[in-house]
Amino acid sequence: MDKLRITGGRPLEGKVRVSGAKNAALPILCATLLTDAPLELSNVPALMDVRTMTRLLADMGVEVGAHRDGRLELRARAIANPLAPYERVKTMRASVLVLGPLLARCGQASVSLPGGCAIGARPVDQHVKGLQAMGAKIEIEHGYMNASARRLRGAHIVMDLVTVTGTENLMMAAVLADGVTVLENAAREPEVADLARCLCAMGARIEGAGSAVVRIEGVRSLAGAAYRVMPDRIETGTFLAAAAATGGRVKLLGVAPATLDATLEKLREAGARLALGADSIEIEADGRPQSVSVRTAPYPGFATDMQAQFMALDAVARGAAVITETIFENRFMHALELQRLGADISIQGNTAVVKGVERLQGARVMATDLRASASLVIAGLVARGETLVERIYHLDRGYESLEAKLAALGARVERVN
Ligand code: EPZ
Repeated sequence: MDKLRITGGRPLEGKVRVSGAKNAALPILCATLLTDAPLELSNVPALMDVRTMTRLLADMGVEVGAHRDGRLELRARAIANPLAPYERVKTMRASVLVLGPLLARCGQASVSLPGGCAIGARPVDQHVKGLQAMGAKIEIEHGYMNASARRLRGAHIVMDLVTVTGTENLMMAAVLADGVTVLENAAREPEVADLARCLCAMGARIEGAGSAVVRIEGVRSLAGAAYRVMPDRIETGTFLAAAAATGGRVKLLGVAPATLDATLEKLREAGARLALGADSIEIEADGRPQSVSVRTAPYPGFATDMQAQFMALDAVARGAAVITETIFENRFMHALELQRLGADISIQGNTAVVKGVERLQGARVMATDLRASASLVIAGLVARGETLVERIYHLDRGYESLEAKLAALGARVERVN
């Protein structure tokens, strides 16, 4: 298995272009199922998860073109096999996003229950509840959700909790339903709004996406469209946290500054200076950052996907910080690995107290999930000596060409197997 060898101790300096958003691209790929016309996408990141999703769609009969320079064309002329098998779903929970579109397009679907993952149980009860409210019949049998619906009908759904893919699944089911669907307590993440913009480009009628109340008026059919995926706000935040932790000066290009206000606010609190352009962010940090406490929350709060990266920053900051994870029940596994690098972290339930230390010491560490891997890379960039991050297939799921981008910023990092 591949590893990343990092020699730490140098500030990141230079410019790098951020890729398209994984968590926007994945639902937008599933939107292909809603029409028999082509969907021409751009700024699609070359990630493991994108490849997994295109393979899943191809297995259903979707034509998938070559993925080159961020461009990807897909077409679901017909759906031969509305199935998302366990083998695929267990490697990527976002596969559950085919459920709504399949029901909307062909009135049936068999989707494996995602099962848990490293960071939590990851139930899909809200997806099921909403689809049943729209008239779907869903039986859970042998680990699969077997769903059918003659034609989905619009419904007024108040979601019990904020769920990103739950909101996206129901929005995609509703665009072809008979009548109007209102989703209350909807997720407000920018990726939800990006999916809605793509669906509207295909002819859907959606208002309020990106707010807590989304109104979808069903239409008879959707057309194809050409659509550019939004920039990845978590990749953006990851590079900014790395620049702040290493005391560097970095300019990020191709970003959407307005989609990560909470992260930018916390970076300023950590002592970094930020200059925002229309599609760029320049960060300047010198020496050690100030400790900064964070509490994760649904958007526009501080993103849970940024929590691990800030723990690495706080590990070398001046002072002590309290990190509270309110979204997932087991998202501190990076803390155990950071301790191997010399971090001073104590965990109590969903709260971590991080006392900054002057220097971390390089060591062998193991990635456990996508954002934990990013946290270990950041720590390796600041640690004295060599850090070897193992199981970096986790990283490859969500970061495109990470070592090349870091090397362009002066980091000494190489992939070894
Ligand atoms: C999305 O996951 C993201 N993935 C995650 O990013 C992200 O961490 C998460 O949203 C929160 O922002 C994609 O968009 C592909 P949720 P999702 O449903 O939709 C509970 C990454 O690193 N819940 O918003 O699966 C759930 O257990 C990944 O890129 C239910 O109880 O997350 C969790 O505690 C990791 N029942 C909370 O809600 C449900 O039916 C939020 O989960 C659905 C969710």
